[in-house]
This record gives sequence, C-alpha cells and structure tokens, in this order.
Amino acid sequence: MQLSGHVQKKQFSTTRMIPTVILLVLCLGSVLGLPDGAPNGICSTLMPRHPGTVAQTSTPPYQVLPAAGQGRVRLILGSPQGLAYEGFMILARDLETGEYVGEFANLPESARHMECLDGVKNGVTHIDKRKKQNLEFDWEAPPYYEGTIIFNSTFAQDYSTYWVGVESPRITVLKRSIDILTAPTPTTTPRTSTPPYYSPTVKTTVNVAENPLYDGCGTTKNCFGAPDGCVEEKNCDAIVTVLVRGERYLFELQAQGSKYVAVGLSDDRKMGEDSVVECVDTAGKIGLHMSWNSGKTNSRRSTPEDAVRLESSFTQDGIIGCKFWRDKMTVVQGREYDLVNTPYNLLVAAGRSASTNGVGFHDVAYSASPEAKLLSDVSGFGATSDVLIRVHGALMLASWIGTASIGILLARYYKQTWVNSQLCGKDQWFAWHRFFMILTWSMTIIAFVIIFVEIGEWSSATIHASLGLVTTILCFVQPFMAALRPHPGTARRPLFNWAHWFVGNAAHICGIIAIFFAVRLNKAKLPEWVEWILVAYVVFHVCTHLFLTFAGCSSDRQANKRVNSFPMKDIHARGSMSHPDVRGDAPYSGMRKLVFGVYFVVIVCFAVALIVINVFAPIEKTWQSLVNATSNY
Ligand SMILES: *[C@@H]1O[C@H](CO)[C@@H](O)[C@H](O)[C@H]1NC(C)=O
Ligand SMILES: *[C@@H]1O[C@H](CO)[C@@H](O)[C@H](O)[C@H]1NC(C)=O
Repeated sequence: MQLSGHVQKKQFSTTRMIPTVILLVLCLGSVLGLPDGAPNGICSTLMPRHPGTVAQTSTPPYQVLPAAGQGRVRLILGSPQGLAYEGFMILARDLETGEYVGEFANLPESARHMECLDGVKNGVTHIDKRKKQNLEFDWEAPPYYEGTIIFNSTFAQDYSTYWVGVESPRITVLKRSIDILTAPTPTTTPRTSTPPYYSPTVKTTVNVAENPLYDGCGTTKNCFGAPDGCVEEKNCDAIVTVLVRGERYLFELQAQGSKYVAVGLSDDRKMGEDSVVECVDTAGKIGLHMSWNSGKTNSRRSTPEDAVRLESSFTQDGIIGCKFWRDKMTVVQGREYDLVNTPYNLLVAAGRSASTNGVGFHDVAYSASPEAKLLSDVSGFGATSDVLIRVHGALMLASWIGTASIGILLARYYKQTWVNSQLCGKDQWFAWHRFFMILTWSMTIIAFVIIFVEIGEWSSATIHASLGLVTTILCFVQPFMAALRPHPGTARRPLFNWAHWFVGNAAHICGIIAIFFAVRLNKAKLPEWVEWILVAYVVFHVCTHLFLTFAGCSSDRQANKRVNSFPMKDIHARGSMSHPDVRGDAPYSGMRKLVFGVYFVVIVCFAVALIVINVFAPIEKTWQSLVNATSNY
C-alpha cells in the first residue's frame, strides 16, 4: 500500500494540528452516529493514497490471525500462501458503534503506531517498504470494556497491488476474558454491499475445539501433536506449535490431563539423543526445564542461560500450557542445535507424573514426527511423510485384490482349460498360477518390510496389523509348501492339496479383511466410500466363484457322458489313459475363457482404482489447497 512516507507524515502533522475543539466535535459526531466519525481519512477508509491505483477485488491472500490471551489479543499478520507484504495498516473497531477501541502494544521494529484519535495508539502501520511476513503484536482492550470487536486491515503487496478491508474473525471481549469467534468472518472486499457493522453476534465461549493454539497451523506455524491426525481435528492430547519470528522461535506446548508436556528435538523418530524442553507443573507452579534423552531415559539438565525463555504459562480446565522462546542457536550436551539450518524431528510427550527433579513416563501422549524438517518450513507440513505408507497400500492392494484373486481363480477352475498348449513346459494354468502367486508373494513381503521401516515398531493394537501379519505369514510359507509337494498320485498328495488350498484361501481372506480395516486407519487417510468399492469387489469375486463352481459341476456331468459315449476318444493323445479327458479341454471351456477374460479385466480395474485412490488420497488435499491458492489471483 505504501501509505507512502510523505503522505503519512503530512497526515499526521495535520491530525496533530487539528484543534482540540474540532476533535471534540468529531468525537461527538461519531458518538451521535455520523458515518465513520473518524477524524482521519485513512483511518476511516483504510484506503492507501496511491494515485492511479485501485484496490484488488479478489480474495486477499493475507489474513489477521488473533489468539486470545489475558486481557489482550495477540495478532499475526500473515499469508496462508506465505506471501510477503510491503505495507499494511490495521485498526480495531467496535462492531456495533464503529468506534476505535483499545491500543496496540509490543510492536515489531518494522511497525509503528497510528493515532486515529489523537494520543491513542489505536492503529498500526508499517515503517518502511521492506518485505514483511508474519508480523506479530498485541492489542489490549480498554479497562472495563465489553463488546465485540473486529480488526480491519489493509495489506499492500506492492505499490499498486493492495487489498482493503481484510477483516479478522470477530472477537468478543468480556471484562475478564476474550473470545474469538470460531468462524472467521468471511474476508470481504471493499465492494461488499452489506456493511458488517451491527451484526447480531452471539457471545460464544471457547471450547476445546476452538482452542486458538490451532489457528495458523500449517499456514503460519508448524504444529505437531499426538495422537496422529489430532491437529486437523483440533483435539490433541499433547501438541507443540512452532512459530518463527525473525531469529527467534516461539514454541507453544499444551497437553490435557497432564502434569507435564514436553517437546524434544531429535535427529530421528526415536527417543535417544534429544534436546528436550519441559513445561512442568510442580505443586501448582509451572516451570520450564531443559533435559536430555539418553536412550529411553530422560534426565534434567541445568538450563543454559537464555537458551529458552518462558513467555507465559497456564493451567486451566485440566490443560497445561507454556509458551517459550528458544534461540535459533543453542548448545546442549556439547551439541549445537541450529534451528535455522538443521532439520529436526519433533517429539511431543505428556504424562501425569512429575517431580522437582524430573518428569515421569509419558503415559498421556507420545509421538514423533515422521520426518526431520526445518522448523521454519511451514509449507507442505507432513505432506510427504507418508510415501512409504502409500507404497505399502499400493503393493498390498495390487497383490491381494489383484494378483492373488486371479492366481487363485486359475488354480481352482482352469486346470482343464487351455490344456493343449503349454508355457515353459508347464500347463498353462500352472504357469500362470505360479506367476501370479510369485508376484503376490514378492509384493506382500516387500510391503510388509516397508511398513516396518515406516512405523519402526510392532503395533499389535490394530486389527489391521494383526490380520496383516497373519496374511503375510501364511503367504510366506505357501511357496515353500508348494516346493516340497509330494508327487501326484502319492498318498500324501491330497493332504498337500487341501493344505495348499486352505493356507492360500485363508491368506486371501485375511488379506481382504485387513484391507477393509486399513480404510479406517488414520494414517491411510482413505475416504470412507472406499469400503463400498471393496464390498463390490467381494461380491464380484464371490459371484464369479459361485458361477464357475456350478459351471464346473455341469461340465463334469457333461464330461462323464462324453467319456461314456466315446470311451476311446483320446486314447492316442499325449495324456495318460486313466483320464481320457485330461488332454482335451473340459466342456464349456469357451465360456470359462470368457469368464476369465471378464474377471481379469474387472479385477484389474478394481485394483487400479483402489491403488489410485490410495496414492492420491492425501494429494487430494494438496490439490485443493493448490486450487485455493491459484484462485486468489
Ligand atoms: C473494513 O474496511 C472496509 C474498507 O474501508 C469497509 O468497507 C468495511 O466495512 C470494514 N469492516 C468493518 C467490520 O469495519
Ligand atoms: C479450500 O477452500 C475451501 C473453500 O473455498 C475450503 O473449504 C477448503 O478447506 C480449502 N482447502 C484447503 C486445503 O485450504
């Protein structure tokens, strides 16, 4: 906006020179409800004076994020898209009266106060044209004030690109507390027809879901919490957020039902060799401590001078919270922690026991971020962390929906089909059965190894994991059993046939059920309707089996007739004499081939569709935000 330097100064000196009388009249005017009773043109319109330019009408790529504190509101002026701005101006007004209320405090270097009423610091604007990002400062309510306010602002990306009237969510100020309305008022452009003044806002109270700590997660700050997926749901048992302010890092920790909540900086996803900061409630007094994880044990260390500074802390409604600064460079245990240049994994932990010299086991929550990442890098948070889970899903789907289904079908119904041709010296059905089953086996083993690499430990807690393990074990032994099979015709051959059939089918069924349960896993991030695709698959698969079974029965009857009527038909064929039909396709083979063709195509479609959904499920979101970002221009 460049409320360009000289224009601003002029504005101000004029303001100062206005005799008090006129000021009083104007104040009176505003009280009497004269439109925009502000003495200062810029204050009332928020329009920068940039001749020859007009305000943008698109959705502003900037926003004002408020976080309620004790008698004050902390504001962050940022951009979800990470865009910088050169100029800005922000005012706080009472929604009903339109009056300027409160004062701004704790301004960063690049900002200064604006006085819309003489002597009252009721606005903030920039000092210079340097690019700014995520400026942060406070707004304090006047003593005894009660009402609903809104922050109205203007952001200038450059001289001619600016957005006027970027509104914050509404804030309800009660005498002792400040609440922020959940739904941010839609950011309006200057050309909205309905003036937002006097909207019948209801007083709301902050409940857990509206915890302002979550505001800006993934846009202005990094957030990481336990259990998985809780940041999106805003219901973490323990959470850490990290906001970068220039050279300093503002950490916020919160946990429910705990005596302590701690954050660790780690080089890996496991406990051990981590620098930990704890926010601990010892006998009602909250303190900040540094400690060190060596292996699985944590021991407290004296906190180096100025390495971390507690900004604020609280316990309320069973929630413990701390806000502290950590320098970009600290030395702990002789190791340098460089937050600017070194990516770290975050560990977050909370527990119910703590004493004056250490914290107890993290029995409330514990989690480690999946990948090391620069704390200043907000964009794409967590987006790439689940590649291995996607690969696991894709391989398991390909093997159990795809290759296993086809391989099993071949072995079951196609021994008497394509008998006159061979592949590599084996019957067609056998060659293909073996081919599909080897594929299944390899993909399953790879997927199994991958998920262990990703998760790093055995989590027997989920049905998916247990069934997956059973499937993998059954699948694993199958080829070894097959290799050791007795010769056809020997006494133990039927036993092998049954065992092979049983183990294979058990593995297939367990695999499919495990896939059903995977849909419900948070980590998989699959939409629920995927279950219906799986149901469709099961129905199709079962129907095909039923059909082929019945077809097989009638084919047998037919074959028996044929054997009886032409007993010598195949006597000179390559096959043995005991089964005259063995070297000719059983009856109805054309129909069976057709069924197989259809089955193959449909199964491939199912597998491909599921794999695509599995791979793209998280990308859906990324795609959406990409669309959102571009639609702003
Ligand atoms: C914010 O400022 C714009 C532009 O001056 C104005 O149209 C809008 O009504 C203001 N909103 C509020 C709530 O004051
Ligand atoms: C994209 O915008 C829509 C509304 O326009 C919103 O509901 C959705 O959450 C946004 N998605 C992301 C990822 O920002």
